[in-house]
Amino acid sequence: MQPPLQLRRNGAPVPGFLGVCSQTEAEQLGQALETVLGPAELAHFRQLQFPLRRGSYLLGRIALKRALAALLAEPRLERLEILSGVFGQPLVRAAAPVAAEISLAHSHGVALGAACAAGHPIGIDLELIEPTRVDVFTRVFSQEEFALLAAAGVPQPSAGFVLWTVKEALSKALRCGLTVPFAVLRAKSVVPGSAGPPGVQWQVEFENFWQYKAHAWIVGAYALAVVIPRKTDLGFQPDGALRALLEAGPGRRATG
Ligand SMILES: CC(C)(COP(=O)(O)OP(=O)(O)OC[C@H]1O[C@@H](n2cnc3c(N)ncnc32)[C@H](O)[C@@H]1OP(=O)(O)O)[C@@H](O)C(=O)NCCC(=O)NCCS
Repeated sequence: MQPPLQLRRNGAPVPGFLGVCSQTEAEQLGQALETVLGPAELAHFRQLQFPLRRGSYLLGRIALKRALAALLAEPRLERLEILSGVFGQPLVRAAAPVAAEISLAHSHGVALGAACAAGHPIGIDLELIEPTRVDVFTRVFSQEEFALLAAAGVPQPSAGFVLWTVKEALSKALRCGLTVPFAVLRAKSVVPGSAGPPGVQWQVEFENFWQYKAHAWIVGAYALAVVIPRKTDLGFQPDGALRALLEAGPGRRATG
């Protein structure tokens, strides 16, 4: 599954796709690992000790490769290796140089990978909404941010998860990850999205990173966010098979 992100900048399309992989698919494809992973990935995978990490590694690689396969018209997943940069950021390596912006996220049996044209940064995050974890957010987000979420109709107990995915997706687009204080990534505005049903999607802009924006959704038991340049339009909605997968929820608690 690799729906187009439907990005447009200054009226012109920006090629970009979302790759999706479920735990079930990863287990099936994992039966023939060499058709999914390249040599460097296989070597890395084989030295991973923990089943959770092996699962999330494979899931994430397949999701991101699906997005890249659609972007680059390269159906052989094992020819697109996803390595890690010095900050943990994903890097693509293939026989010929690949110019693409990429990001990936995995959460509880689902992975999403985003790939779009080089020069157009992108970040993605996906989190399972677990009401028992909401205490974390009151420690790291400001009252002003909670007020913005409430005014935009982001429901509890999901609001903190929505903002978390937004900040994590921004941190991936910036390549810093969550190494910076959350306040640096603080939201300036949260407004309901104009497409689709109300109460499930929002657009967020940032105090310090005004050149970016986030599109965020609640789909089933998950919060999902995509961060892109602020002046780029995004037509993608998490519909169809992706919606069905996220609404089905985590079948098994198999990945982190
Ligand atoms: C980026 C980060 C927020 C990801 O959060 P997470 O909850 O662990 O996991 P997610 O499923 O949402 O995302 C994981 C993916 O983010 C990507 N990622 C990791 N670090 C990244 C960075 N600095 N920039 C962009 N993307 C990054 C990777 O592709 C990773 O998947 P992979 O390890 O299978 O390749 C978190 O790992 C982080 O803050 N990393 C930076 C600090 C750190 O701990 N670095 C360790 C290496 S020095």
